[in-house]
Amino acid sequence: MPLVSTKEMFEKAYQGGYAIGAFNVNNMEIVQGITEAAKLENSPVILQVSAGARKYAKHNYLIKLVEAAILETGLPIALHLDHGEDFEICKACIDGGFSSVMIDGSKHSFEENIAVTKQVVDYAHAHGVVVEGELGKLAGIEDAVNVSEEDAQFTNPAEVEEFVSRTGVDSLAIAIGTSHGAYKFKPGQKPRLRFDILEEVSRRLPGFPIVLHGASSVPQEYVQTVNQYGGSMPDAIGIPEEMLRQAASMAVCKINIDSDLRLCMTAAVRKHLAEHPDHFDPRQYLADGRDAIRNIVRHKIHDVLGSTGKA
Ligand code: G3H
Ligand code: 13P
Ligand code: ZN
Repeated sequence: MPLVSTKEMFEKAYQGGYAIGAFNVNNMEIVQGITEAAKLENSPVILQVSAGARKYAKHNYLIKLVEAAILETGLPIALHLDHGEDFEICKACIDGGFSSVMIDGSKHSFEENIAVTKQVVDYAHAHGVVVEGELGKLAGIEDAVNVSEEDAQFTNPAEVEEFVSRTGVDSLAIAIGTSHGAYKFKPGQKPRLRFDILEEVSRRLPGFPIVLHGASSVPQEYVQTVNQYGGSMPDAIGIPEEMLRQAASMAVCKINIDSDLRLCMTAAVRKHLAEHPDHFDPRQYLADGRDAIRNIVRHKIHDVLGSTGKA
């Protein structure tokens, strides 16, 4: 089976009131952990690659790893560019075999966002590739995604119909209070998402797939494990899983998770090395990292996203 588009995945997810997990990949163990979990759950899955991942692992390695995962699992897998910042990177991924790209024009004005998004959609659709756009800005700091808290802004529902009809995007990422990274809320702050905005967006775009970025839950037990074995992470607050379940039951068809995978892999590797100070074969500690990814992705698919059995 070749790479698949997200089109059919989203149609089924919308109808079925569940969401597809979009997990970021950077190396072989991460690809294996995620896709082994999806296989065990018989779930469709989206593997996504950021500009930073492409720089770290190189485009061709990532493509071949994902092709290998399809051969091993036989699952419907989409390969998606996460946060493409301009036409050039989107074109490189479309030409280079991805089945889906995101053009993140959210840092631009409304008109400039429409212009660059439409340029990507025209090129992508001519090549059979689907496109995710973004309206509204998430806070949070990643390598390539850097929006300060003051600059973050919720999506304005009054803009979504015009954005979607003028650009022709296939799905839309919106900002309702999630953010990238492990520190989504200030210590002591109660997590809150603007479900009223999601509701209004879906009322204006019936049947249209919405994407939620910044959806890691940052499980406390992993932060504790990191800190127990030599780390020093400050208190971190993520998105409660109950809120993700609610989003998945609404118009949200794609839920992006990266930080949770980083965190549980790091916790497992730290624990392994602390408990086995004599180990120096990377396969020993990376296998534990891969197991940790498989376990957390199974949990997300089965208990949060609801996509078990939907492959
Ligand atoms: O949204 C950003 C993703 O978590 C990717 O992060 O740019 O550090 O690879 P990265
Ligand atoms: P997290 O940092 O919450 O995992 O979000 C990942 C993401 O949105 C990737 O695009
Ligand atoms: Zn994101």
